Amino acid sequence: MNDPLSELPLEKLRLRTSAKWRSYPPDVLPLWVAEMDVPLAGPVVRALTKALARGDTGYAMGPEYVAALDAFARKRWGWDGVAPERAAIVPDVMLGVVEVLKLITGPGDAVVVNCPVYPPFYAFLEHLGRRVVEAPLDAGHRIDQAALDDAFGRAAAGGRRAAYLLCSPHNPTGTVHTARELAAVAELAEAHGVRVVADEIHAPLVLPGAEFVPFLSVPGAERGFSLLSASKAWHLAGIKAALAVAGPAAAGELARMPVEVGHGASHLGVVAHVAALLHGGDWLDAVLAGLDDRRRLLAELLARHLPEVRYVPPEATYLAWLDCRRLGLGDDPAAVFLERGRVALTGGMPFGTGGAGHARLNFATSREILTEAVRGMAAARR
Ligand SMILES: Cc1ncc(COP(=O)(O)O)c(C=O)c1O
Repeated sequence: MNDPLSELPLEKLRLRTSAKWRSYPPDVLPLWVAEMDVPLAGPVVRALTKALARGDTGYAMGPEYVAALDAFARKRWGWDGVAPERAAIVPDVMLGVVEVLKLITGPGDAVVVNCPVYPPFYAFLEHLGRRVVEAPLDAGHRIDQAALDDAFGRAAAGGRRAAYLLCSPHNPTGTVHTARELAAVAELAEAHGVRVVADEIHAPLVLPGAEFVPFLSVPGAERGFSLLSASKAWHLAGIKAALAVAGPAAAGELARMPVEVGHGASHLGVVAHVAALLHGGDWLDAVLAGLDDRRRLLAELLARHLPEVRYVPPEATYLAWLDCRRLGLGDDPAAVFLERGRVALTGGMPFGTGGAGHARLNFATSREILTEAVRGMAAARR
């Protein structure tokens, strides 16, 4: 199969009307929000086209999404933990996180996050009235168990209910947590009485050399929750749907979530996600091969044009976390790349402690666009 990331020229991409293409003037190359520059997988297009022809545009319901994720999880990850009695359709991953946190914590309770982390974690937790407690990743972008122990202690102080919103794989660093790390997390969480909610939206995007381990598959994770979706890996963020999956000891709590929450998902989203999970494996493999190429190309381009930037190629995702502090462009280098280089990255500061002086680059694009973008960034340095 051809590289889906090479198929669309810039002039076609610019016809898109989604956030990636709408937020900046037409002379800016957008490599920011997590949308991919790919045409949709054939099976997804066919499933959507058939649904539209049927007028099959009512509310989302039924067992197909859970069954499709179950089949995908068994095949890709050798995991048999997705069961209908422990899963629920939710509108999307972030709203699923919010609904799960409502089941296990109350107003004013703390939720621990590993900063720097996906900015909506802060936005949604604050909007929900939860206190955010930061446990920074270590210098190698891995979970720092001592920092987590400390954060769990603070979060659960006084016997309060507390949760840990784990990002697995981690956005923005692309860290893939190992089975050993996750088992240590589960043990620590149990010791402190902290409930783990794993955002595993990037799980299908683990690149060659790393292996995804579902949090709920590790010992001690029976009381945990996971949020999964086809949205990131198949470029379906605009046709929303996701699944909340509970560990065996948390199924009763998930059952308390009103079934109406699932009506917030798009039925067309469910149709598309099911087709992706059941029939989009070859397409996903082609995307992963393309991303593997781009993460290496980005290393070459940075070494040539911007050697001061520190970049550790991610183990998963299409996101590159760039440490730009040695460029001397201040706390928000993305603002300078935009203004002087006409390239839009995501600024690091909203990612929390550790984000200043950093920028996140989305390399899910063609070699040409990525090359052009790094040239633009280099031109911004003067
Ligand atoms: C870690 C993480 N969680 C959640 C989301 C958003 O997912 P959704 O649109 O399903 O809420 C993203 C999007 O990039 C993400 O990176």
